[in-house]
Amino acid sequence: MPTRDHSGHDSSFFKPRAASFRTAVSFIFILSISLAFYSTRTAFLCRPDPNPPLPSSSSSSSPAVFLRSPTNVSHIAFGIGGSASTTPGRGGYAGLWWKPNVTRGYVFLDKEPDRLDAEIPHRLSSDWTRFRTGGASDSALRIARVVADLFSAGLTDVRWFVMGDDDTIFFPENLATVLSRYDHRKMIYVGGNSESVEQNALHAYGMAFGGGGIAISYPLAERLSRRIDGCLNRYHYFYGSDQMIWACVQELGISLTRESGFHQMDIRGDPFGFLAAHPMAPLVSLHHLDHVNPLFPNRTRLDSLSILMKAYGADPLRTLQHCSCSAARRRGRKWSISVAWGYAVQIYPFPMAPHELATPMQTFLTWRTWKDGPFTFNTRPPLAADPCRRPVVFYLKAAAAIDRNNGSSSTRYGKSAEEEERGGKECGRSEVAAEVEEVVVVTAAAMDGAEFGLGSDRRRQCCEAVDGGGGIMRIRIATCV
Ligand SMILES: *[C@@H]1O[C@H](CO)[C@@H](O)[C@H](O)[C@H]1NC(C)=O
Ligand SMILES: *[C@@H]1O[C@H](CO)[C@@H](O)[C@H](O)[C@H]1NC(C)=O
Ligand SMILES: *[C@@H]1O[C@H](CO)[C@@H](O)[C@H](O)[C@H]1NC(C)=O
Ligand SMILES: *[C@@H]1O[C@H](CO)[C@@H](O)[C@H](O)[C@H]1NC(C)=O
Repeated sequence: MPTRDHSGHDSSFFKPRAASFRTAVSFIFILSISLAFYSTRTAFLCRPDPNPPLPSSSSSSSPAVFLRSPTNVSHIAFGIGGSASTTPGRGGYAGLWWKPNVTRGYVFLDKEPDRLDAEIPHRLSSDWTRFRTGGASDSALRIARVVADLFSAGLTDVRWFVMGDDDTIFFPENLATVLSRYDHRKMIYVGGNSESVEQNALHAYGMAFGGGGIAISYPLAERLSRRIDGCLNRYHYFYGSDQMIWACVQELGISLTRESGFHQMDIRGDPFGFLAAHPMAPLVSLHHLDHVNPLFPNRTRLDSLSILMKAYGADPLRTLQHCSCSAARRRGRKWSISVAWGYAVQIYPFPMAPHELATPMQTFLTWRTWKDGPFTFNTRPPLAADPCRRPVVFYLKAAAAIDRNNGSSSTRYGKSAEEEERGGKECGRSEVAAEVEEVVVVTAAAMDGAEFGLGSDRRRQCCEAVDGGGGIMRIRIATCV
């Protein structure tokens, strides 16, 4: 039965919420009792904080300094919730994104591991066994305290404390770009929801799901670290540490700032459709990669990710950014092209509107119940039963960073071996497969954080197909006309 999760995610921020329905029902039952109980104590929960705010110890204390020195990777402290039993096996994930002496922080473990391949320095969690336990497991309580353990580690010049799981992959430069848009001297709680509506309904829409990452500004982390132990006793009935943190943040009157590049990845099956139509926001994190198919066909999970990381290295903010265009072909035919930069290019042998191409193709299922939805975004039907309506997909093969002479980056995408073998059926699709061997996407200058706008000035780019000849389709990315 796929409604259980045997992955042993004992230590996650994001507890495996795929427990049986019985557990879910009893959880809701306990929750409603607890809510009834707590609603009689609202006054208590809304009392003003007895500890007045302290001035941030961050070095940037005047507006001028904040503006002149934008937040970068070195201002972020990572606190990864791990355990001696799970983290060593996940070292490969950490190795993909952790840069020794650049990224700062620790993975927090329950005890000394026998071996540890991960490059992230580790620390032992401080005493977590003295709390009341209700719905929460010991590990959920322990992981909720990572924010306090990380804060008291006393790293200097930290503006943001970012928590995640040992199976979370962060894109640290993009995370810094996203956080640089907020004033870290205020109390701010940033993250993302679950992709599966059932998960948000069961937990909370207002909560930053922990596997996708929880970013907490310095002054909020400072308050939380003093308050968290009380919160663990007050909210011991919650199942996961992320929900306890959410409840604790709520006591301070702070609500979630949603950023759509944090990905809890509460989906099952093939993540292709999800990743190939990323919203216009920098890619910040990916989680649950052990629970979805590898990103690239006929590749291991780690190999797939290291390919994606090549594109990330070439133009970090452009990673997975989506654009589309149409290409006029001989005899009045029209193809539609959908680019998820650094990941995949799809060619449909018929016209499709940009809004259709920007809607994720539903190649995946919901997290808890393995259903066709609903998700927190629109989807279009999965791969059409009629093979002639399916796109020909080209996956990233190589990525070259911005060239110093011509100022352009270049990414190359090839057909999967499976596609090469498919051949056969005569329709527009087989024409695409026959005429295009490889797609080369050329982009000028690296993408800039300002291009994502702060709301009103957010504008996607478009692509433009230039037939390169010799089985190569060349695509340029530029302003839509
Ligand atoms: C980040 O910004 C600080 C100034 O606030 C600077 O000293 C430091 O070198 C920068 N680090 C990186 C990695 O750019
Ligand atoms: C990190 O810094 C330490 C101390 O400065 C140094 O010994 C070590 O070699 C550095 N590691 C890397 C990978 O640069
Ligand atoms: C820029 O130069 C690189 C390396 O020489 C080359 O691969 C790429 O195709 C060039 N791009 C353009 C747009 O000329
Ligand atoms: C899968 O990959 C292996 C090793 O890289 C290769 O030998 C094999 O031909 C591939 N098969 C398909 C169907 O792509």
